[in-house]
Amino acid sequence: MSKTNQSWGGRFTQSTDEFVKIFGASVFFDKILAPYDIQGSIAHATMLCEAGLLTEDEKTQIVDGLTNILEEITVDKFEWSVDLEDVHMNIEARLVAMIGDAGKKLHTGRSRNDQVATDIRLYLREQLNDINDEIKRLQIALLDLAEKEINTILPGFTHLQAAQPVSFGHHMMAYFEMLSRDAERLIDCRKRLNSMPLGSAALAGTTYPIERTRTAELLGFERICNNSLDGVSDRDFAIEFLSTASIIMMHLSRFSEELILWSSAQFDFIELPDSFCTGSSIMPQKKNPDVPELVRGKTGRVYGNLTSMLTIMKSQPLAYNKDNQEDKEPLFDTVDTLKACLRVFADMVPTIQTKRDNMYNSTKKGYTTATDLADYLVKKGLPFRDAHEVVGLSVAYGIKMQKDLSELSLEALQEFDPRIENDVFDVLSLEGSLRARDHFGGTAPNQVKQAIKTARNNLK
Ligand code: ARG
Repeated sequence: MSKTNQSWGGRFTQSTDEFVKIFGASVFFDKILAPYDIQGSIAHATMLCEAGLLTEDEKTQIVDGLTNILEEITVDKFEWSVDLEDVHMNIEARLVAMIGDAGKKLHTGRSRNDQVATDIRLYLREQLNDINDEIKRLQIALLDLAEKEINTILPGFTHLQAAQPVSFGHHMMAYFEMLSRDAERLIDCRKRLNSMPLGSAALAGTTYPIERTRTAELLGFERICNNSLDGVSDRDFAIEFLSTASIIMMHLSRFSEELILWSSAQFDFIELPDSFCTGSSIMPQKKNPDVPELVRGKTGRVYGNLTSMLTIMKSQPLAYNKDNQEDKEPLFDTVDTLKACLRVFADMVPTIQTKRDNMYNSTKKGYTTATDLADYLVKKGLPFRDAHEVVGLSVAYGIKMQKDLSELSLEALQEFDPRIENDVFDVLSLEGSLRARDHFGGTAPNQVKQAIKTARNNLK
């Protein structure tokens, strides 16, 4: 009998240092893999039995034992032990305690290396479904808000300087588009992670006549990993997810930034409900947009997780190294953070109250229809560069007179170019400016309406 009671203790003469045990253990955080570990083990045992490596009776004992263990874990009756290092050895030890010798056969033709690589794939595959559901819920919220605000006009900015009038619905649909690409990226990521490492064993494969495709079929994997060394050490599916998560967070963070700006007294374009804000303990007037601020802040931690994971992998020689144990916390944290941020956004977006008059009045500042005047002159025969110059001069005049272009008299405008006629005032109106951008992808209200309709159909 070995000097240690570890499952790998046979060749050891000293037991593990007490702090090293704690230092090396992952059970504190990897126990959330338990349902996937058990799912993987049941499939593995089933395959082993079909391949003649376990008797029917042994398989039944294993499957029943694992099912009972899952129940114990679910009702929080399971005793996790740091001495047993990780989720895999905790469950296996409990199985052996429950059913004896049959339990000791479960690990035939398998290693913790392919086991953990399988578990995190199963975990992430399931999480991707939840994440995609939340993205969809947020997208529907954006569509509903966009639909209500098709005719709401706000200043579109470039360089955060008023540029051209846009529909608030159009603005919301920009975020819808970003999220559509994010959802596609997740689907793409799922394709690559849906490959089963089991059978890679420690690194080189196994000497038993196992049926990898059968286990894969039982676990719903589309493929099996082609190469055992790669199977146990690939974490690029996780990196791919983390980079997609980073992109999603970047999108949510941009949206957050706008919501924060818009709810300030200076912009005053929207109101977030009290239920999504907090006050200040010193300044009685304050209502702070905590939710978008936190989402913007949490973006940093998701980027950090991506950087961790890339760095964890960058110097590892093939195949498995203990470094890989460090893959879990960044992965789990990203999943939890992303799910929470998407959820809170999907809940918050329907509560956004727009202040249409404020947006409208703000759009009148900053000569946002200047391009429309230039386009008008081009249509009357002036080359665009000359039209640009003419409008520049009239804007300078407007600034001097403290008037918008639409507030200048026809005579005053004609001083800049005699081609300007009375129909210019329609062109200089905010509504006219929107209406004129009437092509696919433009901000004209009927285009936005069409875009929303198409998007709704595509979501189904
Ligand atoms: N807890 C380990 C991990 O998360 C499981 C694999 C251990 N493999 C080993 N060869 N020590 O990576």
